[in-house]
Amino acid sequence: MTKPIYILNGPNLNLLGTREPEIYGADTLADIKAACVATAKTAGFAIEFRQSNIEGELVDMIQEARAKASALIINPAAYTHTSVAIHDALKTLDIPAVEIHLSQPAKRESFRQTSYVGQAVMGTISGFGANSYQLGLQAVINLLKP
Ligand code: DQA
Repeated sequence: MTKPIYILNGPNLNLLGTREPEIYGADTLADIKAACVATAKTAGFAIEFRQSNIEGELVDMIQEARAKASALIINPAAYTHTSVAIHDALKTLDIPAVEIHLSQPAKRESFRQTSYVGQAVMGTISGFGANSYQLGLQAVINLLKP
């Protein structure tokens, strides 16, 4: 049995759908999860989809993924721009890891111009709204498929 693909979500993403929809879109996190589960199922993979507002919990989830995941996709939200702890946890992985964002941080405020996460993952997909999750998922599925 192939290990699941972990999809981790950082702070405030539990509010998707109502949180600044002009930036993040109308889809809820539950909508995004359902679309990811469907895409992964078609390709023969399971998804472990989680969200936390707490930095240390995200570190724990990344550590868990070391043994339990086949690949990891993460939208670290605001921790993207601040978290050395998440960077360090991602550096311990020897599975494919992809950073995703709904918005395009490069087009936004100056404090979003640094990603501590981008330096610790294989690649980054941003700016495609909820479709960033699908594109990230497709990237890891392509890597995992024999
Ligand atoms: C985000 C971008 C981050 O800068 C922001 O703090 C978020 C969401 C995105 O998906 O566009 O919370 O990660």
